[in-house]
Amino acid sequence: PKGHFYKWEVEYMFWSPDGVENVVMGINGRFPGPTIRARAGDIIHVELHNKLHTEGVVIHWHGIRQLGTPWADGTAAISQCVINPGETFSYRFTVDRAGTYFYHGHYGMQRSAGLYGTLVVDVAEGEKEPFHYAGEFDLLLSDWWHKSVHQQEVGLSSNPLRWIGEAQSLLINGRGQYNCSLYSKNAQNDCNIKGGEQYAPYILHVLPNTTYRIRIASTTSLASLNFAIGGHKMLVVEADGNYVMPFMTNSLDIYSGESYSVLITTNQKPNNYWISAGVIGREPQTNQALTILNYKPISASKLPKLPPPATPQWNDTDRSKAFSNKVLAHMNTPKPPKNYDRRVILLNTQNKLNGLTKWAINNVSLSLPATPYLGSMRYGLHGAFDQANPPENYPQDYDLMNPPVNPNTTIGNGVYKFGFKTTVDVILQNANTLSNVSEVHPWHLHGHDFWVLAYGEGKFTNKDEKKFNLKNPPYKNTAVVFPHGWTALRFVADNPGVWAFHCHIEPHLHMGMGVVFAEGIERLGEIPHQALACGLTGTSFMDTNKH
Ligand code: C2O
Ligand code: CU
Repeated sequence: PKGHFYKWEVEYMFWSPDGVENVVMGINGRFPGPTIRARAGDIIHVELHNKLHTEGVVIHWHGIRQLGTPWADGTAAISQCVINPGETFSYRFTVDRAGTYFYHGHYGMQRSAGLYGTLVVDVAEGEKEPFHYAGEFDLLLSDWWHKSVHQQEVGLSSNPLRWIGEAQSLLINGRGQYNCSLYSKNAQNDCNIKGGEQYAPYILHVLPNTTYRIRIASTTSLASLNFAIGGHKMLVVEADGNYVMPFMTNSLDIYSGESYSVLITTNQKPNNYWISAGVIGREPQTNQALTILNYKPISASKLPKLPPPATPQWNDTDRSKAFSNKVLAHMNTPKPPKNYDRRVILLNTQNKLNGLTKWAINNVSLSLPATPYLGSMRYGLHGAFDQANPPENYPQDYDLMNPPVNPNTTIGNGVYKFGFKTTVDVILQNANTLSNVSEVHPWHLHGHDFWVLAYGEGKFTNKDEKKFNLKNPPYKNTAVVFPHGWTALRFVADNPGVWAFHCHIEPHLHMGMGVVFAEGIERLGEIPHQALACGLTGTSFMDTNKH
């Protein structure tokens, strides 16, 4: 195993992600941040210096389980204190498993401000992937607003709510086009890209008759996307850092927090082809993200003959479900335990709190405490958060198909505590919002992978257990719950630490759509002081100077 050392500085900078100059949160002067590339078993060491003038910062390594290093998970108020302006924090962790990952800010809405980048883990030296390819491309998908995150955040915390609306642009590797289109026959609207612009597309230059791996990760703030390559079929081989049973598809649904690898073979007529990503799951008001698959030696500036792949109907949920159901585990994937020890049913609703719009889970809207859980639980500082167990179910007569009858939520910061190594089933239960619709929510679990046992419709009942796939359920860290439906997940609570489990839609999390899980606290070793220098852990650290 090798060590990889990086010195990073986070700061705001001027940038034109889509041709409109704006302020983004960059790392070492770049947007998106630098790509991390390592091999399974390697150690990543990032020394993160906060050069923002008035905000704290943290970085979460999405999909990395942080076995033995829960303090390096990079979640503000959960695994660590925020890094204050001028301060430096050392993230040191092992990337234990090959796969496609990314990293992003996990404080306030800093991911939406552009704090993200790609993290790729190759197989360990001497190991082989279960497939072959000659070249690789890494694509990180995101959505971009012209309004600052501060303005977005104030809107979400205002009465009446000012919703962030739909994105101005979709970005591929931080590049999109707002005022112009790459696909335009009328020169006026043409982007006139020379290639050096910050918003010039990231082009995939390929050789004919060659197989490539394309890694696709989505760190969108809001958008669920459908990704396609004109004229080419894709073979899906990996999802969220685990191999899947390979399947062919013309297009790929990817929700915020997910990652996939696909293989393509450039066996079409030598030409240029459009690569597109468009919004699904919400009525789109944003142009597709576009870039080009360029067969060498043809000029990349030649317009493709075929039009960009059309994004499927945004509300065709049956198609989306059919896609999600095609993702099944590769035969070497760990199998789920046959039975569960504990079942937690999490109903999501939209409610009001003193006139503010919130998301709640079993009628509790998450509001993080001032002292990070990891430190307060490790050192038994019971005053740091609500010690009562959060609700594990909801009233069985609840009507999912109507707006909430009880429009008022409570706020809370309680923790679901699991016995070490217990098998936990989580049923995500979707419902209606205050405006009488049901939305798509991609839920992401920190510190673990879970098996996705089933996606179902309506209200989950015990009878639905029959539908669980215990044979080859996909092993993932993010799974979607469809409108008015449920999703059943199973995981083993075998990673000592405190872990966020939340909707990966940034404004939803910000409005309270998350919960906190903890296990094996008694097994935790010392936590680096740097992670504890705030709240009650900060005070007790100063008093005793012994932690
Ligand atoms: Cu990528 Cu807690 O999220
Ligand atoms: Cu959500």
